[in-house]
Amino acid sequence: MNTHLRLVENAFRAGPEHQAERAARSPDYALLAPGSREDFKAHLLRLNTEDRRRRFCRTLGDDGVSAVVDDLDPTAPRVGAYVDGVLRGVAELYPPAGAGLTTRPAEVSLTVESAYQRRGIGTQLLKKTLKLAANRFVSDVVLISLPGNEPLKAVAARFGARTVLEDGDLVLHINPGPISVWTLMGEARLAARGAAKGFPVPDFAGRAVLARRAAS
Ligand SMILES: CC(C)(COP(=O)(O)OP(=O)(O)OC[C@H]1O[C@@H](n2cnc3c(N)ncnc32)[C@H](O)[C@@H]1OP(=O)(O)O)[C@@H](O)C(=O)NCCC(=O)NCCS
Repeated sequence: MNTHLRLVENAFRAGPEHQAERAARSPDYALLAPGSREDFKAHLLRLNTEDRRRRFCRTLGDDGVSAVVDDLDPTAPRVGAYVDGVLRGVAELYPPAGAGLTTRPAEVSLTVESAYQRRGIGTQLLKKTLKLAANRFVSDVVLISLPGNEPLKAVAARFGARTVLEDGDLVLHINPGPISVWTLMGEARLAARGAAKGFPVPDFAGRAVLARRAAS
């Protein structure tokens, strides 16, 4: 392409229409409130058979998925990826029970609907969730799936994951690093973005940090 044509194309790409289109397609990341349970369930019900198997380590029909979601802790921190206002990806964090410092692992589950995979959403969700884990003094995050889950392994490898096979399951361990002003600001930003978009957002989780400090 000659230089003149490239300049014209770049000018077109930088125009408001193109920017609006890009904004519409790039996800908004926000903390989910316990009240977002139905959106969360709808997202998991849109997963295809193989992705459901990888998320739940077994084959589940719609009733099975709904029953599992109803049993999940509604207060667990969750980061959502919204594309055009619809929840297309979620990272769930299940910190170990009890207050105070612990070396017990927190579990993270990650799901992105197939039409939205391989755009970096899974990587972004995990990155943000590791900050949430650091804010809760977690030193070991585990992701559990079935052996052969290459996409999960690739995403976890970006954060230095250590891979082990336990009872036939694939278990990936990640150290989220220490709590810092950056991890706290990362969580505050997720809460603020959700609020700015009008999504329901829980209280800033810094409260959980303060409560844990007070208890220890
Ligand atoms: C794991 C999962 C969350 C990844 O989400 P994602 O948005 O596609 O992740 P990213 O786009 O950040 O990265 C995906 C990476 O996986 C790798 N990948 C994808 N398919 C692959 C394959 N068939 N073989 C090897 N690597 C593969 C690639 O490295 C890819 O990155 P690239 O597109 O830059 O090359 C998604 O695949 C998913 O929801 N799977 C079903 C549920 C699941 O397995 N959850 C984990 C158990 S808790």
